[in-house]
Amino acid sequence: MSDLKKIKEEALARLGNKLDISELNKIKSDLFGKNGLIPLQFKKIATIDVTKRKTFASDLNIIKDELQNLISLKIKELESAEINKRLEKEKIDVTLPERSFTRGKIHPVSQTIDEISSIFSEIGFSVEEGPDVENEHNNFTALNTPENHPARDMHDTFYLDEKKQKLLRTHTSPVQIRTMLKGKPPFKIIAPGRTYRSDSDQTHSPMFHQVEGLHIDRDINMGHLKGCLNYFIKEFFEVDKIKMRFRPSHFPFTEPSAEVDIGYEMKDGKIVIGEGDQWLEILGCGMVHPNVLRNVKVDTTKFQGYAFGIGIDRLAMLKYGINDLRAFFDCDYRWLNHFGFDPLDVPMNYRGLSR
Ligand code: PHE
Repeated sequence: MSDLKKIKEEALARLGNKLDISELNKIKSDLFGKNGLIPLQFKKIATIDVTKRKTFASDLNIIKDELQNLISLKIKELESAEINKRLEKEKIDVTLPERSFTRGKIHPVSQTIDEISSIFSEIGFSVEEGPDVENEHNNFTALNTPENHPARDMHDTFYLDEKKQKLLRTHTSPVQIRTMLKGKPPFKIIAPGRTYRSDSDQTHSPMFHQVEGLHIDRDINMGHLKGCLNYFIKEFFEVDKIKMRFRPSHFPFTEPSAEVDIGYEMKDGKIVIGEGDQWLEILGCGMVHPNVLRNVKVDTTKFQGYAFGIGIDRLAMLKYGINDLRAFFDCDYRWLNHFGFDPLDVPMNYRGLSR
């Protein structure tokens, strides 16, 4: 048998065994290493008789390619078997129960919405909802907001189409319209939810939360509005006394309109509600404009009432001593674990809302 044939057959015999990666590498270096069998044969070419040299060289090349291909194939096979084995071992069964179970936390905004709903439901308000994506009519026109009102500006409103027909609601007031369109007076509702404006800094986020209030009946007046808000703020901050002031303001959908500030002071770096001579604006309100009532076919000779819109995030910040609004929406679990609430501790006013 020629040398070449012998090399080939021996190599094939060795490669036919079940090999691990180091055994394979050993064969590779025996054959192709610096002093390997194949390089030695290449060195021999020059010494071979000229007549046989060409066939020898060509045979040698064929054998070299054949063995090289076979070895790299085997290496690849071994490598992928290795990877599969590892994957099998590292497989995660996502259906298995958690090893250390920790209960999640309720976000301060959700907690605040629950508290607000609980307080208002005690005094006869029911809870309504409306969609985040509103139409222009419910958000502006039906609310007596004229064509040229600054709130309609592209800088404030996120429009969703070229014709400015669909938008992300800029306040919860369109729920007033939805509620009155689908029912008959009297109405006594609150509507908490998300609202959107093109605004962003430490105290403004492009998405924020409001709660709308609407009370329409035969003889509802501004005194009722004051009493209701006064009661709400005391209950919410869990204090007996608050300072509250109504500042004349303007909203197209209320007349007269007011903004409400609550009095506070800073004591040891903490906000104390109900004392001191600092004022903080927390809501807008007023008597519902007759045009709004007419737009939803409520008889203005028989019915009237008030509406208000409270900024929820700001209330939560005040009550729970959180000073950066943006943290609310960062989804940082460390923050949520610190400021969040126990899910089993449902707010109820008879035992203290936030205990
Ligand atoms: N929608 C007003 C705002 O977002 C608040 C408001 C609601 C004022 C209801 C009056 C009555 O600023």
